[in-house]
Amino acid sequence: MERTFSIIKPDAFAAGSAGKILARIYAEGFKVVGMKKLFLSKVEAEGFYAVHAERPFFGELTDFMSSAPCIVMCLEAEGAIKKWRDLMGATNPAEAVEGTLRKEFGASIGENATHGSDAPDTAAFEIGYFFNGLELL
Ligand code: RTP
Ligand code: MG
Repeated sequence: MERTFSIIKPDAFAAGSAGKILARIYAEGFKVVGMKKLFLSKVEAEGFYAVHAERPFFGELTDFMSSAPCIVMCLEAEGAIKKWRDLMGATNPAEAVEGTLRKEFGASIGENATHGSDAPDTAAFEIGYFFNGLELL
């Protein structure tokens, strides 16, 4: 079993799409081992996305992520990291395959509905950034 970290980003949460996204998560066989609603501060968003600090979109990205509430989750499944990224689809919703979450719920490359860890080390960092052990049951 593997764990990954995911976010229902502010655009999707504000649009009322969290329920539909959760339904897809369960339908695909993930176990939700941690979940909470947060309204990130700018500093918290910057800490989470520190790996992108030098990228040109860093300011825009952290403004967006701290603009409204989101839902953060720890998901568990066989091959959870790849499985969740496959379900999300391409970063740019315009390039995402039909049936993926970003295709259905994303509006643009910046406001793309969901986040997912991209490797075991980033998953471990991201899960630990938002959850303590007692919150992962
Ligand atoms: P994520 O980390 O959110 O799951 O997305 P990802 O791996 O598919 O994409 P990544 O390269 O890690 O980028 C992180 C987030 O930054 C925003 N972004 N904006 N304006 C742009 O060109 C641009 N590029 C990326 C997106 O919200 C992306 O999900
Ligand atoms: Mg990423």
